[in-house]
Amino acid sequence: MMSDLSEQHILLGISGGIAAYKTPILVRRLVEAGARVQVVMTANAHKFVTATSLQAVSGFPVRDNLWDPAAEASMGHIELARWADQILIAPASASVIARLANGDASDLLSTLCLASPAPISIAPAMNQQMFQHPAVQRNLATLRGDGCRIIGPDSGDQACGDQGPGRMTEPEDLVMALTQQQLATDATSNTPLHGRKVMVTTGPTREAIDPVRYISNHSSGLQGLAIAEAARRAGANVIVIAGPGVPEAHGDIQRVDITTAQQMHDEVHAHLANTDVFIGVAAVADYRPANAAAQKIKRHKQDEMQFTLVQNPDIIGSVAQTGRAKVVVGFAAETNDTLQNARDKRTRKGLDAIVVNDVSDHSIGFNNSDNAVTLIHQQGEVEFARQPKTAIAEKLVAQITDLFAASLVH
Ligand code: CTP
Repeated sequence: MMSDLSEQHILLGISGGIAAYKTPILVRRLVEAGARVQVVMTANAHKFVTATSLQAVSGFPVRDNLWDPAAEASMGHIELARWADQILIAPASASVIARLANGDASDLLSTLCLASPAPISIAPAMNQQMFQHPAVQRNLATLRGDGCRIIGPDSGDQACGDQGPGRMTEPEDLVMALTQQQLATDATSNTPLHGRKVMVTTGPTREAIDPVRYISNHSSGLQGLAIAEAARRAGANVIVIAGPGVPEAHGDIQRVDITTAQQMHDEVHAHLANTDVFIGVAAVADYRPANAAAQKIKRHKQDEMQFTLVQNPDIIGSVAQTGRAKVVVGFAAETNDTLQNARDKRTRKGLDAIVVNDVSDHSIGFNNSDNAVTLIHQQGEVEFARQPKTAIAEKLVAQITDLFAASLVH
């Protein structure tokens, strides 16, 4: 058994579900992994497991009541909330999930979740039909958006005779998930990007010609997404402003979807407060039709068509101008005089660094899983030969981390 949870104070919330019968084993496994565990039960949890067993295995009195004067006198609930390094709710019933998603504080467990800054992991357990109900899925999505981690559920035979997703993740696997999470946190807690806010724009934008047609480009958003994920792994709080068609990001990444360059500009500035590093990977359409037609343009009514294009705002330029992000990194796709164009673009836009790729080579870049780029910053240039975008992302984030660390010194 790994002992990477040593020194961890884990508050285990148990709600009313048949899987609660497994929680004494779960407590045992957590304690074996080195954790100190205090248990909080909801009223319905008592119908499936006894407080006596849980007290015996955890070595702490079990809490279940916000208004218990004796318990409050020994350790008040706010003190208990502060004691926790992390909160695990297993099993998490549909109703406890709904309470948490609503910020409800009607019982001890939900109050502790609101009062504690500790990360919260949730192991849902319920009938498969309930689990798949849109209301439950909506609440889980809300919790994910709030930064909670959802573990499981497993799929298979259920106590009620059904088959499907809704079985609580097994105690051993829950301990493994918490351990891995802890290892990842330990690995990043000393890196400069840990807890810093990184904003990434990625993907194309679409500029309407009429209600059904638009101007856009071939950007897939994959390079930006890979950079966002690498920054997340480096411990940053990442927000992605994504154009149309960009695939799903990791659940821990905040995501804002936009369609047009103007919307991207507005969302970037709406979320810019406290941004430490801004990375503009998006292939923003530089121009948009001056007047998008309100109705579909009809072919049989005109032989030729002309429209005027007007410039979109320069998003990254406007971010650099605010001086709010400590490091601003741009991307440049060039077809000729690649390096010189990029050097000029970096200074023209006031960027700390620019990453350039030569898009005249169709085997890399747009819509391809490989890329080859050069990072240009004030002190030098670093070349990355052709490799997967994920590998490029990892190396670029390492370089950007160094630039960020240097910006803190100056
Ligand atoms: N960019 C932006 N807003 C725009 C256009 C581009 O934020 N309206 C960002 C891109 O995300 C990228 C960088 O600027 O990080 C370079 O984009 P590019 O289109 O090459 O720059 P342009 O200003 O369009 O320069 P050029 O004169 O070469 O067209």
